[in-house]
Amino acid sequence: MNSNPAIIDIKNLEKTYGSGSSVISVLRGINLEIQKGEVVSITGPSGTGKSTLLNLMGCLDNFDRGSLAISGTDVSSFEVDALSDFRNKHIGFIFQLHNLLPEFTALENVMMPLLIRRCKHAEAKEKSRELLARFGLENRSHHKPGEMSGGECQRVAVARAIVGEPDIILADEPTGSLDSKNSMNLLEVLLNLCREKGSTAVIVTHDMKIAGMTERIISMLDGLIVSQ
Ligand SMILES: Nc1ncnc2c1ncn2[C@@H]1O[C@H](COP(=O)(O)OP(=O)(O)OP(=O)(O)O)[C@@H](O)[C@H]1O
Ligand SMILES: [Mg+2]
Repeated sequence: MNSNPAIIDIKNLEKTYGSGSSVISVLRGINLEIQKGEVVSITGPSGTGKSTLLNLMGCLDNFDRGSLAISGTDVSSFEVDALSDFRNKHIGFIFQLHNLLPEFTALENVMMPLLIRRCKHAEAKEKSRELLARFGLENRSHHKPGEMSGGECQRVAVARAIVGEPDIILADEPTGSLDSKNSMNLLEVLLNLCREKGSTAVIVTHDMKIAGMTERIISMLDGLIVSQ
């Protein structure tokens, strides 16, 4: 037995969409190991399967063949309830579109994962406030997503994904709607927080400057990893 197994361990992973004659192979045999505390990026042209791969790592979708283990646990055997429980404990996901809850303020959005985990309300509020401040949003706590800019919403979404200090942070184009300067700032805060907490992070990005801020760049092409 390897005494230090990868926190994300993917072997020969295959994923198709559709059925019959309209099947398309989106992932065609992915092999990837990511170690605990590593911060990596995934790049590649549009449609190569980056989001599909990230969604699988985030236990958000199922696959056809191969294996996927997170923290030494084979997640393909989990039932839906066990899977969402596992996800809530171990993974913070930042989506390509921020999908904040529109009815709730920035602060309430960030508090949500802690409240789902039955953290005390006052503690959730305190932690969430601190994190919003790290992202320069102390004056936006009581604004709803409709009252904030796209970039501010994106920062709130990042805060929400990491407030519970998940072992693994998965981010799909987290700086998609930001200009270059704000992208770098957001990534810097995120990466500093990852390093402080020893979190593992996988960041999908088109931006080679952002990719260059991570420890390892994984390039995908046409459903395969071509270099790592
Ligand atoms: N639900 C779905 N049903 C059918 N095909 C899908 C579905 N989701 C994605 N695809 C296809 O799978 C391929 C990979 O999609 P994916 O979203 O993983 O690409 P991507 O690398 O993230 O691209 P982008 O950089 O544009 O976000 C694309 O050709 C896409 O059209
Ligand atoms: Mg994508």
